[in-house]
Amino acid sequence: MRAALILAGLALAAPLLAGCGKANMASQAKAKQWDENQFFADHSSMRQPVPGTVARDAPDAPAPQPAVITAALLERGRTQFNIFCSPCHGQSGDGRGMIVQRGFPAPPPLWLPRLEQARASYLYDVITNGHGVMYSYADRVKSADRWAVIAYVRALQQSQDAHPADLPEADRRLLEAAK
Ligand code: HEC
Repeated sequence: MRAALILAGLALAAPLLAGCGKANMASQAKAKQWDENQFFADHSSMRQPVPGTVARDAPDAPAPQPAVITAALLERGRTQFNIFCSPCHGQSGDGRGMIVQRGFPAPPPLWLPRLEQARASYLYDVITNGHGVMYSYADRVKSADRWAVIAYVRALQQSQDAHPADLPEADRRLLEAAK
């Protein structure tokens, strides 16, 4: 009885299934890529991207290294560093970020003499292309932001052997008061 019902059901559904058969969709009006096409002024079926279109995976144009380090640049660098780099490098650059505490290989502290002496273009290359187990950040950190991050990395490097005398007068007094 059950089998008969199922068969009856299939028999009813069959014409419906045939209704969306592929034949009709395959023969609908369409333009193939190399076809001439009177609909467009250039008679080409293939269309050009709209001016200004940016491909999703297109790399952004390389930005020049900023000539001067401004507070705004450092601020931008800090934001980007804390978002993209600190999970591994730690907010101070010590290489003990949260992902490392969960087992990712530890990066070296960013204030190794070798990295302090490294040219900005080297650091730019590390962010762009990755280094060893660190993968590329080119698709996440825009070219101009990479320079901002590098400026901030320089500040982190300096902060490691900063002396109270390096502080502005007001901050020095605050520090004295906190002792
Ligand atoms: C997923 C973890 C991770 C993130 C996020 C990360 N790094 Fe790294 N980074 C590493 C590891 C691990 C190394 C060491 C790689 C090696 O030597 O194999 C490293 C190495 C480096 C080095 C040293 C290269 C050298 O010559 O030894 C620099 C500089 C650096 N990273 C900068 C950055 C900056 C800037 C960012 C953010 C844009 C960033 N990293 C994001 C894990 C990370």
